[in-house]
Amino acid sequence: MTGSGVGFHSVRTEHEDYQPPIEGTIPSWLSGTLIRNGPGRFDVGDRRVNHWFDGLAMLRRYAFDDGELRYSNRFLRTNAYADAMNGRLTGQFGTDTRGWRRLVETIRSLGLPEPTDNTNVHVARIDGEYVALTEAPSRIAFDPETLETRGRFQFEDRLPEHITAAHLVDDPYRNELVGFTTQFGRQPRYHLYRLPNGSRRREVIASIDANGPAYIHDCSVTDSHVVIVESPLVLSVLRALNPFSEGAIDMLDWQPERGTRVLVVDRDTGELVAEPTIAPAFTFHHVNAYADGGTVVLDLVSFPDGDIVDSMALGDLDTDGFPAVPDAHLMRYRIDLETETIDRTRLYDGGMELPRVVRSAVSRRHRFAYGQATDRAGANGLVKVDCETGTAREWWERGVYVEEPLPVQHPDADSEDDGVVLATALDTDRERTVLLVFDAATLEVLARAKLPHAEPFGFHGRFFRNE
Ligand SMILES: [Fe+2]
Repeated sequence: MTGSGVGFHSVRTEHEDYQPPIEGTIPSWLSGTLIRNGPGRFDVGDRRVNHWFDGLAMLRRYAFDDGELRYSNRFLRTNAYADAMNGRLTGQFGTDTRGWRRLVETIRSLGLPEPTDNTNVHVARIDGEYVALTEAPSRIAFDPETLETRGRFQFEDRLPEHITAAHLVDDPYRNELVGFTTQFGRQPRYHLYRLPNGSRRREVIASIDANGPAYIHDCSVTDSHVVIVESPLVLSVLRALNPFSEGAIDMLDWQPERGTRVLVVDRDTGELVAEPTIAPAFTFHHVNAYADGGTVVLDLVSFPDGDIVDSMALGDLDTDGFPAVPDAHLMRYRIDLETETIDRTRLYDGGMELPRVVRSAVSRRHRFAYGQATDRAGANGLVKVDCETGTAREWWERGVYVEEPLPVQHPDADSEDDGVVLATALDTDRERTVLLVFDAATLEVLARAKLPHAEPFGFHGRFFRNE
């Protein structure tokens, strides 16, 4: 196994409270747990899933207490997992034999299909329950200490959803999560919702007529708006009904003539306050948004087109290691609500993905965006962009592939970057994943913990402070 190919191998061992050797020092104030989600296993017998998104969900837990670290990893015991153990691989994205095909078959009748429960994309705490999330409307609760699977999590509402966002914006000021679902039908719709802390009932902020509908992965909020970006990467039901279609990938159709529509919705009234259309671009991830007078500032990471989705098929990744498409770039959209125009500028010239800001900056003016630096040969770095000055700090080491970085502020922080950045990274030379703790101001490595194995590349996580 060479290069980053190790990032797409299967894990079979589950560790519990492993105490890794640590080089350097983890700050003693760091108290809480990073829980990450992602695929952990791609094959059963001689069969292999076709897309990175389809690996079996494996939770990773990094518990910090007084300078010590404990690591656990555990697969979710889902129906998808049980099927896989019985030799039946079922994907949802590119591998499908059941999930998305069935979704498409049921779209005609508009009945809700039985979605995959392989919830491998993200995690959230909802009404005290820790929940693993994916883009199918299916959630799995787990124990945050042992990572044991608790079973299905059900919302107490009837919000229509054929596809749903795994990304929920965690707004510490309004004390609520914000997300959206997509509903197919004669007039497809996006339903934007809020989920107040302590509730399992999603409240509709707005239901908006969709063009396409588009495949939308993320959203952002200001103190008074929700923003989603409808790219021309369309979920084409007709295309999916093609008998040679294999999964959701075959539903995706890049239709650049549609352009990209940015939807700005009033968070209180649900009114669509602006919907400017700009030149086509595709985005997975938003960085953050904030209101600045009559302007909404939206930072996101943008690809020139939708090819990135196809390129993450494992056949391509296994040979090349990484998608052979142009890098995504950190862009700033200044959306004038009056004229419904957008001024677009690039904030950082390097390639960037998996961006994050500190929790206290969500919906407010942020200064720093942290992300994976993707434009190195033989490495993925960490980058910190100063969005005010347009300068950046970078860290990278040859053969080390940084995953999603997560900035965590000191509890008494007196500046936005007073704290640490936590990032897992695959060290391909040593065939191990390491947990890196960076000084958030300087990107100096404070500590490096060597895990007992190499994890496949994961997606997203959250840091839950000890209460
Ligand atoms: Fe994502």
